[in-house]
Amino acid sequence: MNESERIAYLRAALHHHNHLYYIENKPEISDIEFDHLMHELQQLEEKHPELHDPNSPTARVGSDLSNEFQTVQHTRPMLSLGNTYNRDELAEFYNRVTEGLEGQPFQIACELKFDGVSISLIYEQGKLVRAVTRGDGVSGDDVTENVRTIRSIPLALPSSTNYPDSFEIRGEILMPWQVFEELNRERETKGEALFANPRNAAAGTLKNKNSVVVANRKLDAYLYYLLGENIPKSSHFDNMNTARSWGFKVSDTNMLANTLEEMYAFIDHWDQARRELPFATDGIVFKVNNIQQQEILGFTAKSPRWAIAYKFQAERACTRLNDVIFQLGRTGAVTPVAVMDPVQLSGTIVQRASLHNADIINNLDLHIGDFVYVEKAGEIIPQIIGVETSRRDVNLGPKVEFLKNCPECGSELVRYPGEAAHYCPNDTGCLPQLKGRIEHFVSRDAMNIDSVGPETIEMLFNQGLLPYQDAADLYSLRLSDLCTPRSTREKSCRKIIDGIHASLQTPFDRVLYALGIRFVGKVVAKQVARHFKNIQNIRQATLDELLAVDGVGKIIAESIIAYFNKPENQDFVERLTLAGLQMELPEEEKLSEVLSGKSIVISGSFEKHSREEYKVLIEKHGGKNVSSISKKTTFVLAGEGMGPSKLQKATSLGIEIVSENDFLRMLSDESE
Ligand code: IVH
Repeated sequence: MNESERIAYLRAALHHHNHLYYIENKPEISDIEFDHLMHELQQLEEKHPELHDPNSPTARVGSDLSNEFQTVQHTRPMLSLGNTYNRDELAEFYNRVTEGLEGQPFQIACELKFDGVSISLIYEQGKLVRAVTRGDGVSGDDVTENVRTIRSIPLALPSSTNYPDSFEIRGEILMPWQVFEELNRERETKGEALFANPRNAAAGTLKNKNSVVVANRKLDAYLYYLLGENIPKSSHFDNMNTARSWGFKVSDTNMLANTLEEMYAFIDHWDQARRELPFATDGIVFKVNNIQQQEILGFTAKSPRWAIAYKFQAERACTRLNDVIFQLGRTGAVTPVAVMDPVQLSGTIVQRASLHNADIINNLDLHIGDFVYVEKAGEIIPQIIGVETSRRDVNLGPKVEFLKNCPECGSELVRYPGEAAHYCPNDTGCLPQLKGRIEHFVSRDAMNIDSVGPETIEMLFNQGLLPYQDAADLYSLRLSDLCTPRSTREKSCRKIIDGIHASLQTPFDRVLYALGIRFVGKVVAKQVARHFKNIQNIRQATLDELLAVDGVGKIIAESIIAYFNKPENQDFVERLTLAGLQMELPEEEKLSEVLSGKSIVISGSFEKHSREEYKVLIEKHGGKNVSSISKKTTFVLAGEGMGPSKLQKATSLGIEIVSENDFLRMLSDESE
């Protein structure tokens, strides 16, 4: 098998194992074996850029290329559904269908209404060629690159299946609860605004300009509508089963109902059982099953007459507001929390609800003693959504005002322009913030010191074992600081010390994330680390140099500069360096030396790889990527739309311009 055949083999194998893992939940190889094959494919693809395939399984990791979403017109408009909220309205729909079909017998396909973002996927010759959001229903955004990272969406269908040459399949992109909660936890530690529910999080993610971020967010997708000239079956239910056999994720909760009563039973079941599902649903969708019958019924301007949504009731309760307390988060953000008379809501007793920020309190015109309506947003966090002003009486207490000073340290709170939250600015002296930063430092995605949790940090503070009150102090701890010889706690104390010691091997990008620089999440930290290679370069980087990193905008760049300008942070990084943490990336392995001694400027945009990937390729082949053209430049790697001033400068200095294809040929000649 030559290398090109091996690439084809690996791609087919990885598509197959991806399907077994993400759709069938029946993996046949271990994660390590899977990663091994993926790694081999990545290496071979790097060596053979001429064999680039946008649907390769390696597309799952995303690319640094900044996405600009093109607006494209849908082949068939994406309509929405009519809504019903109770049994009577559903019975009306059923009667309209009965009448429209003039007494023909019919069946109804019953499905969950997934609460995410709808997507249209176009496949040609079994390959995903385009993914478009709903937009206004007539045209939407082309988000193909981002969708390619969603592992439950097949990129290439197995050739053994009998799919039509060209078809469209629609479905919903979701963020599972677990991913959503983890994401919000991470955003909270970074001081970023939280997503209100998984739908917003999925929508925000899908529109992210960096597909590496999308790949890391672990979106999922269910498909529920097959369209095209040559779709295989005469009923919707059978088409969905067939699509499942082609490799699509189709929910196995789909059912057929023969009567209105069976539809009610489906609702009754899922209104309860949905609480156990790993993703959010907001209702049920009913569809006339037979496609000929769908055609008889047709469409109104807005929605099909053959389908309807039944929306679950968001549970709501009314109770008395007794107090508003203010909690300080780890990032210094202060959150108001309502304390109410206990009330039963969706199976649990609720006594507290988040009020989010000062604007929400003002808009509600909230007073102590008010009767408030509470709903569970996204079914988990209770929220106050309104005030029953008709129940106000002479006993009404004072209007709720936002706090002026930090509840922990008394500093005057600040509100940054454009932000809804109030913050305690005393980040070097306010205890919960100091503890919070250490909790972030040891967290799983950062230094991953799992032997040091919040209680240990609390204990270390209480015993005065952290003289500088920061995470660098951890590295000076000795076993004898934690316990006396032969103490019963020796084993667990030893674990703490060992865990801290083992973290010295944590790679530089995670160390950078662990510093807790505002707005620098783990993906950004990775990009910045890869770009600058070591902490010294990052410390000295100018605003423009930081902005040159994909995924870094003005807010992040300014935050990084502000961080390293503070003497206490410089000191902290210095102490971490002395403790032996990884402050640089290891040397990359070389693919060849074909560009050795050459200084190359990249300009314009490219078809086959992102600019960031070309930078990596240049380095892996021994070359040096430089940002501006000078006498020393060997050549300019030029893509579409190279700037006129660069072109002029290159020509006047007599510097060669090399096209994308010529450049790739240069590298592949060498690899052969
Ligand atoms: S069918 C013409 N089936 O609900 C019929 N939609 O309110 C097209 N949705 O835009 C839609 N689960 O985003 C259908 N099982 C399901 C669905 C579903 C969720 C969403 C979809 C649609 C919206 C309509």
